[in-house]
Amino acid sequence: MSHPLEDLRTAASAEIAVAVDEQTLEAARVKYLGRSGSISAWGEQMKTLSKEEKPIVGKLLNEVRNAVTAAIDLRAQQFRSQKESGALSKIDISLPGTPHEIGALHPLTQMWERSIEIFRRMGFALADGPDIEDEWHCFDALNTPPEHPARTEQDTFYLPDGRLLRTHTSTVQIRTMESTPPPIRVISPGAAYRNEEIDATHAAQFHQIEGLYVDKDVSVADLKGALEFFMHELFGADTQVQFRPHFFPFTEPSLEVYVKSKALKKGEQWIEVAGSGVVHPAVFEQVNKARGDKAYDPEKWSGYAFGLGMDRLAMILFDIPDLRLFAQNDLRFLRQFA
Ligand code: PHE
Repeated sequence: MSHPLEDLRTAASAEIAVAVDEQTLEAARVKYLGRSGSISAWGEQMKTLSKEEKPIVGKLLNEVRNAVTAAIDLRAQQFRSQKESGALSKIDISLPGTPHEIGALHPLTQMWERSIEIFRRMGFALADGPDIEDEWHCFDALNTPPEHPARTEQDTFYLPDGRLLRTHTSTVQIRTMESTPPPIRVISPGAAYRNEEIDATHAAQFHQIEGLYVDKDVSVADLKGALEFFMHELFGADTQVQFRPHFFPFTEPSLEVYVKSKALKKGEQWIEVAGSGVVHPAVFEQVNKARGDKAYDPEKWSGYAFGLGMDRLAMILFDIPDLRLFAQNDLRFLRQFA
C-alpha cells in the first residue's frame, strides 16, 4: 500500500501536467503548496507522529514537496517559452532590415586630411591659432602697414573691441615664432574670413593651410621643391607646377603657385592654387621685438611660407562648380563624397 503522501504526489503531478494555462497552474500550486495546501497540511501533522515515524515521513514529505515544486517550475517554464515563440512567430526574419544611415566626411574635411597627410610625411608639425585675432598678429607683424587696403572695413570683419576675424592663417606663423625658437616646420589648417561679395568663387569664410619653414639657408629652391612635391602628391605625378612673381607684404620674393594637369577637369588651364614666398626680414624683426630677443636673427635664419586655399583645391580636385555647395548641407551634394 502506498503512503498517502505518495498518492498526493501522483495526483499533483497529473494535475500539473494537464494544467492548460498559468491560472490553472497557479490554482494547483495553491492547492498543494499554498499555506493551507495539502502538502503544507502534512507538515502540520508531523508534530503528531511518533519518534520512529517522524524521520521516515519527514524525508518523504521533503521529496514530495521538492518533486511538486519542480513539476510546477517546469510547467511554468513551458508556458513562458510557448509565449515567447508565439511572439517570435509574428516576426518575419526574412524581411530586410532597416539600414542605418552611415555618415561620411565633408569634402573639405577630406581635402584637409589628404593635405595634412602629405605635409606630415614632409616633416611638418601641426600648429594652431585663434580665429578671432588682434590686428597686430593679422597685419602689423606681417609687415602690412595701417594704410594697406586689406585692413579696411570693407575687406575685413571687425569686432566692436577692435579685434577681427583673421583674414588668413598667416597669423599662426607669428604665433608659432613667438612661442618657439627656430628651426621650425609647421602647417596650420584653419578658417579665414573676408568681407566678400558672395558668389560661386567667393565666400565670407574659407579654409586654408598655412605653412612655415624656418631654418639655416632656406631658399626659394626649397619652397619650390616642397610645393611641387605637394602638388604632385595631391593631383598626380604628371601635374605641371608654375611659379609666378607676385606681391605679399610678408614675403620677398613672393610667388603665386599655378597647376595644370590633364587629370583635372579644367584640363589645359593653369589654375592658381597658392600664395607663397620667402619670409620677409621685417617679419622676423617684428617677432624678435615681441619675443624680446634675437632668436629670429634674419642674418642667421631664413624661411619660406605658403598659404593654400582648401576650398579651391577641393573644387579643382573634385570638380565642384560652386563654392556655396560646401556650406549648404545638401545631402544630394554631400553623398557624392561618401
Ligand atoms: N596669406 C596669404 C593669403 O591668404 C597667402 C600666403 C601665405 C602668401 C604665406 C605668402 C606666404 O592670401
